[in-house]
Amino acid sequence: MLLKKILRRMHCLRVKLRNDLVWGSFGKGSRVIRPMRIVGKRFVHIGAGTVIMHDARIEAVYSYGTETFTPCIRMGDNVDIQQRVHITCAESIIIGKDVSILPDVLITDISHPYDDITIPPKMQRLKHYPVSIGDETIIGMGGRILPGIRIGKHCCIGANAVVTKDIPNYSMAAGIPAVVIKRFDFERHGWCKVNDNVIMMGGGNVTLLCARKAA
Ligand SMILES: CC(C)(COP(=O)(O)OP(=O)(O)OC[C@H]1O[C@@H](n2cnc3c(N)ncnc32)[C@H](O)[C@@H]1OP(=O)(O)O)[C@@H](O)C(=O)NCCC(=O)NCCS
Repeated sequence: MLLKKILRRMHCLRVKLRNDLVWGSFGKGSRVIRPMRIVGKRFVHIGAGTVIMHDARIEAVYSYGTETFTPCIRMGDNVDIQQRVHITCAESIIIGKDVSILPDVLITDISHPYDDITIPPKMQRLKHYPVSIGDETIIGMGGRILPGIRIGKHCCIGANAVVTKDIPNYSMAAGIPAVVIKRFDFERHGWCKVNDNVIMMGGGNVTLLCARKAA
């Protein structure tokens, strides 16, 4: 019995050493400011010139209860991850290059199901759906990016937004739940405000109002 216990402890320690000691990859010039909570370093890949500020919590969840996972957190080059950002991943979170994640943002691909009312949610099998954030996107302070969400290229997500639906390239989205408020119009070469009836466009001193285009 005791031997079994010792062998099990040793196995857990071996798994922990293998998974938590060394980054999956760590690009040139990247920096991590401690303290930080990091779990599953082996599953985390960081591009070049990326900075992770202090008190970040980055968890590649490779085991939970009796289940095991093969998570992948991948950050491109020149990504800023600011203070207290919380990233938890059991499947895949891909962050493009030149992305800024401002303080207190949550990005997760994990859901704790509550379907079975006889088992506490934290003990039910995790659900996970991949998340991606396109190149050049900025996530405002306190934003929440939920499982399964894809945010496109060069998007701006407002402070405290809760993103529950995909956001297309070149969009500004905000609110709870986040909705697209502005989009870049390549014909007019400017950002257009989107609402039910009109697209408004501001550029310098000019503000145009035109019929809403089909999405
Ligand atoms: C998203 C953001 C960049 C938008 O800036 P903007 O393009 O200048 O937006 P506007 O001021 O033109 O606002 C457009 C509309 O969006 C709304 N809006 C803007 N930001 C919002 C937010 N975070 N949540 C909810 N609504 C928001 C505005 O109220 C406005 O609504 P209206 O048309 O009904 O008046 C900005 O509001 C924001 O949230 N920035 C995050 C800043 C941050 O996190 N800084 C931390 C530094 S460490």
